[in-house]
Amino acid sequence: MDPIEKSDLPEIIPTHIAIIMDGNGRWALARGLPRLAGHRAGTENLRRVIEACIEFGIQYLTIYAFSTENWGRPEEEVQGLMKIFEDVIDHELQELHDQGVQLRHIGRLDRLDPTFRQKVLDALEYTRQNTRLVLNVAFNYGGRDEIVNAIQCILRDGVAPDEVTAELVNQYLFTAGVPDPDLIIRTSGELRGSNFLIWQGAYSEWLFPPVYWPDFDKEQLRLALEEYSHRERRYGRISPVRDNAAA
Ligand code: FPP
Repeated sequence: MDPIEKSDLPEIIPTHIAIIMDGNGRWALARGLPRLAGHRAGTENLRRVIEACIEFGIQYLTIYAFSTENWGRPEEEVQGLMKIFEDVIDHELQELHDQGVQLRHIGRLDRLDPTFRQKVLDALEYTRQNTRLVLNVAFNYGGRDEIVNAIQCILRDGVAPDEVTAELVNQYLFTAGVPDPDLIIRTSGELRGSNFLIWQGAYSEWLFPPVYWPDFDKEQLRLALEEYSHRERRYGRISPVRDNAAA
């Protein structure tokens, strides 16, 4: 396939893309491989998608790496996923840093092994000044858990009820300071939100490409951007193009 040029991209590019990287297990099953082989293939694909996002000028990428519900998976898979995340930090942090990626974490780190937790904190600190791409890793993340946490913190801070606004809630979310996702992609054809960015995604455009995550390549990303560029975002209002034409 020919390389993708900047001129192949639509003019309107989302600032923030969020991805539910679904289908690793089915990708592996279809090849007679163990599920963890699917997660490893998914990790390799993530590297390619990060590079494509940088090349396409995306500023924020949020990935759903491990949900608060994923602890319920078989112990071997949970431990395997932890090992993959740790390997990425051990072996790929420098390259991410060199590419100008700022790592951020959303979710809770408290259930992690203390050594691993410290590694994650060090990685966040190491890349803190980078500005080319902000990579939010949703790890031990759940949208409801995030909102419950925000409410607890607001109450603890003694905020008066009349002072609670949407803007204030934003400041108490794990994503404070990050713009809402313009586009949320869930691969594998599943049509669910699965507790991902349920507050921030209120007006996001959604896309459900029917490919497993390890197969979601640069061309798939370009197609997603193309589709996004044709969406008219109305935020609950009417369409100035469509509805005024009829007036
Ligand atoms: C969903 O597919 C995928 C996950 C729960 C894990 C995603 C994690 C990675 C791709 C690893 C890379 C991330 C980092 C931060 C290094 P599934 O297992 O639910 O697939 P299935 O629905 O086909 O079983």
